[in-house]
Amino acid sequence: MLLNSPLDLAKIMAMANLLSMFILMEMIVSGFGFGVDGLRMDYYIMSCPFAESIIKNTVNRALRNDPTLAAALVRMHFHDCFVEGCDGSVLIDSTKDNIAEKDSPGNLSLRGYEVIDDAKDQLEEQCPGIVSCADIVAMAARDAIFWAGGPVYDIPKGRKDGRRSKIEDTINLPFPSFNTSELIKAFGQRGFSAQEMVALSGAHTLGVARCSSFKARLSNTDPTLDSDFAKTLSKTCSTGDNAEQPFDTTPNTFDNFYFNALIRKNGVLFSDQVLYTTPRTRAIVNGYAMNQAMFFFDFLQAMVKMGVLDIKEGSKGEVRENCRKIN
Ligand code: HEM
Repeated sequence: MLLNSPLDLAKIMAMANLLSMFILMEMIVSGFGFGVDGLRMDYYIMSCPFAESIIKNTVNRALRNDPTLAAALVRMHFHDCFVEGCDGSVLIDSTKDNIAEKDSPGNLSLRGYEVIDDAKDQLEEQCPGIVSCADIVAMAARDAIFWAGGPVYDIPKGRKDGRRSKIEDTINLPFPSFNTSELIKAFGQRGFSAQEMVALSGAHTLGVARCSSFKARLSNTDPTLDSDFAKTLSKTCSTGDNAEQPFDTTPNTFDNFYFNALIRKNGVLFSDQVLYTTPRTRAIVNGYAMNQAMFFFDFLQAMVKMGVLDIKEGSKGEVRENCRKIN
């Protein structure tokens, strides 16, 4: 082929990039050996063709009203997937016989349930009993990331909703007091490499932490914490345990500022800052801080992988009528 201009070369490279991204997604998805009921990118194409657009429009509308919900929806997907797999178990309300995941201390500051309910109500009207709550959470997180300026990516659909949601299972969520080895272990147990763990932690480019999540760092001098930033955190905490501290200077924008904050010793959680303090993960943080495109690419791959953790297929799950209750 004859190349007439640098523009032609750029076009070819862009196409090659797109193609390799597509092949990679297919590999990630097919690598999990899904059966007949398995996940597919076009899962709802016949049964509920407008599912994707209904969810996207609902998310966009909600985020226009409250941009901080982008962070909430991304975190909700993580907390769903790390406990009992991506099965919508985090959405279930407690009953008189069962204290559900959402009432555990680690989940009390989760938000955005009403966005999922809103999408579900519309989907039940259009195509009753078809679109699972777990898929809605996964798609809402993806759409929130894009809305906030992050990478665009497709995810496989067809997750079924779980029938178990117990407070004690949330012990599997990582704690903000974890050091790097503990973080690597917690993510390693679910099949993630240290690099994928750092990429996923980059979700903290969105949102805030409450004082109760980081105040332990302020009682004795923490050498990994910049002294001016320690004053900022103390000031935040002076208004109480629920006072919020943004993870970086652009909490509603998906960018790589979080990693630059870590380099400046401005990480909010202990579990954030250790990623830079520990030699094993420091190079990864430096890489993402320097190269946002590399962060975006690693992040989206890790998110697609996280989104298929222990999914329930066929009769192992159901499509809930109401995301807050098992059928
Ligand atoms: C690496 C281990 C992780 C730990 C220890 C951790 C811990 C935390 C903590 C303590 C908060 C603040 C909660 C509060 O004070 O209310 C938080 C917020 C958040 N986390 Fe993580 N997290 C981790 C990984 C992740 C991952 C993998 C994701 C998503 C892929 C994620 C997404 C978020 C988001 C977006 C927020 C902000 C929520 C908001 O503003 O409403 N986190 N995380």
